[in-house]
Amino acid sequence: MAKTRSSYVCQHCGYRALKGFGRCPNCGQFNTMIEEVEEIAKPARQNRQPLGSTRSAPQRLAEVSADMGERLYVPIHEFSRVLGGGIVPGSIVLVAGEPGAGKSTMLLQVSHAIAEEVGTVLYVSGEESAAQIKMRADRLNISAQDLFLLTETNLGQILEHVNRVNPTVLIVDSIQTMYADDLESSPGNVSQVRECAGRLQGLAKSSGVCVFLVGHVTKEGSIAGPKVLEHIVDTVLYLEGDPFQAFRLLRSVKNRFGATSEVGVFEMSGTGMVEVPNPSEAFLAERVINAPGSAIAVTMEGTRPLLVELQALTSPTPFGNPRRTPNGVDMNRLLLVSAVLSKRVGLRLHEQDIFVNVVGGIKINEPASDLAMAAAMASSYYDKPLAADLTFIGEIGLSGELRAVGQLGARLNEAAKLGFKRALVPKMRRKVDDVPSGLKLIEVRNIAEALALAVPRE
Ligand code: TYD
Ligand code: MG
Repeated sequence: MAKTRSSYVCQHCGYRALKGFGRCPNCGQFNTMIEEVEEIAKPARQNRQPLGSTRSAPQRLAEVSADMGERLYVPIHEFSRVLGGGIVPGSIVLVAGEPGAGKSTMLLQVSHAIAEEVGTVLYVSGEESAAQIKMRADRLNISAQDLFLLTETNLGQILEHVNRVNPTVLIVDSIQTMYADDLESSPGNVSQVRECAGRLQGLAKSSGVCVFLVGHVTKEGSIAGPKVLEHIVDTVLYLEGDPFQAFRLLRSVKNRFGATSEVGVFEMSGTGMVEVPNPSEAFLAERVINAPGSAIAVTMEGTRPLLVELQALTSPTPFGNPRRTPNGVDMNRLLLVSAVLSKRVGLRLHEQDIFVNVVGGIKINEPASDLAMAAAMASSYYDKPLAADLTFIGEIGLSGELRAVGQLGARLNEAAKLGFKRALVPKMRRKVDDVPSGLKLIEVRNIAEALALAVPRE
């Protein structure tokens, strides 16, 4: 019988100890350490070698070929763009998101697009039955010849099928349901997830198959269990969005083959995910002109400017303790902006509840939207609408000064494209020379000046 060894592994961060602790000494989470029994067997070690790898030898950097092979362009443009232009052969990509975000739906659509134009796809599901997937596929109108389905959770079996089908792209939905049968711990445990991901990475690197892993996200927003997964894969994509809203953002947070923080915008419809080629237009579609408390911010998502509507509502607090409720913006930014408005502009916000909402269910955490947030709050406070053709760009400092923001040119272009006539921006050190025609820049030094111009007061 093989020798076994028992150890305690934190399901949050992967920390391993010989003894269990109530609180993980590494990440500080409570009750996350679970006993795992491991076989100390030599063959398991050998398995860990990437398939087909031979003995390594040092190479001169100058002689190494940078040719990874052509990227495979998936005809879903937003998806390819987030990946940096297409799928790199032999890469391994993690698609993470909360349950119901639409990971399975999106990957099934991606599988279809690939199977139609690029090559064979093997879609492995450990969560749903083949019939369930078929039902979804019918709903999405998918019937590609080169799309193979497999419902299996045993990794060894899956690798055998991969050898037989020899797909261009392998999709594993989800990594938390997979298990390697030479490991004792149950599926979803940190060591299983890490081992399975490691073996799939070996497969990708040695055979050139592109692997997509679906990963679940916990309530706190981290990928369930293993942070370790993020180190193993080449690219991490997050699919995010408010379940009560139709918009879904696909965001790249790590990418070994392209820029990070690229964002693709999709809309969940009755027949799957639909690309949104002009997100700013979509986010502003329901805007009510001349409503107090609404301001337009221009935020950057990666390299792409996005116009979003920020709404604020201030209302007298019925109790002594005023509330601050952010939805889509960072609580700390909301506190900072309301403190600056109280102290530097003299708004009596200490007796007001404040609600701030980003329309469309997206999250913005860029300080460049501070000015829009402040304008929306002041507009609601005075109950006076802001001009409909005005956008707000700028970060607010603690003494009420406005700070310059990056990529102003791109932001102004997007605002001009959507028909805005004026932009309120921080005072620039040098003249801004690439202002799009039809857009007037109004440069201001501080928040008091900005509000004096933006919020009409009789
Ligand atoms: P799903 O892809 O199963 O999410 P995940 O794999 O991330 O858990 O689907 C998420 C939701 O999308 C589900 O509640 C139903 C909805 N949906 C649509 O609105 N339209 C569609 O065409 C499909 C297939 C699903
Ligand atoms: Mg799913």
